Amino acid sequence: MERRAIYPGSFDPVTNGHLDIIQRACKLFDEVIVAILVNPGKTAMFSVDERVEMLGSLLNARFPQVSVDTFDGLLVDYALRRGAQAVVRGIRAISDYEYELQMALMNRRLNPQVETVFLMSAEENSYLSSRLVKEVFSLGGSITGLVPEPVIERMREKLSKH
Ligand code: PNS
Repeated sequence: MERRAIYPGSFDPVTNGHLDIIQRACKLFDEVIVAILVNPGKTAMFSVDERVEMLGSLLNARFPQVSVDTFDGLLVDYALRRGAQAVVRGIRAISDYEYELQMALMNRRLNPQVETVFLMSAEENSYLSSRLVKEVFSLGGSITGLVPEPVIERMREKLSKH
């Protein structure tokens, strides 16, 4: 049986931490679907279309078994529609665990067939988050090595328009 996983998130923007988790997920699953949550209630730096495009261009050539998609509504319903057996989430520190455990158990309650798999990113990514990357960048700090270079370029373009 083909093993298919969903890697859901906001990816606003994608960081090297996300890419690290995707790379690890590819070793475990035949197919990995990176699923961007469409969340109109949350103001984002990049539109969903921009995020799809950026993730696609970073991943398509490097990881043939990875595809990029968007979803709204319940994650477990989406997983079921896509025929996925697992949801992958990255865990950085203990502080992530509480929220992730809550989500994993709620998702299990909603659909016991979908298993959540936690993967640990490399230590050097353990303090990395899209939120901090955006904050540091907007205040003029360097985010080189934390975010792929083409994404930094897109962030520069965004900032210069404001
Ligand atoms: O990268 P993020 O923003 O931490 O990802 C959060 C995400 C997208 C995984 C979570 O918000 C989610 O799954 N939303 C979909 C709605 C849903 O299923 N909610 C119930 C989860 S217990």
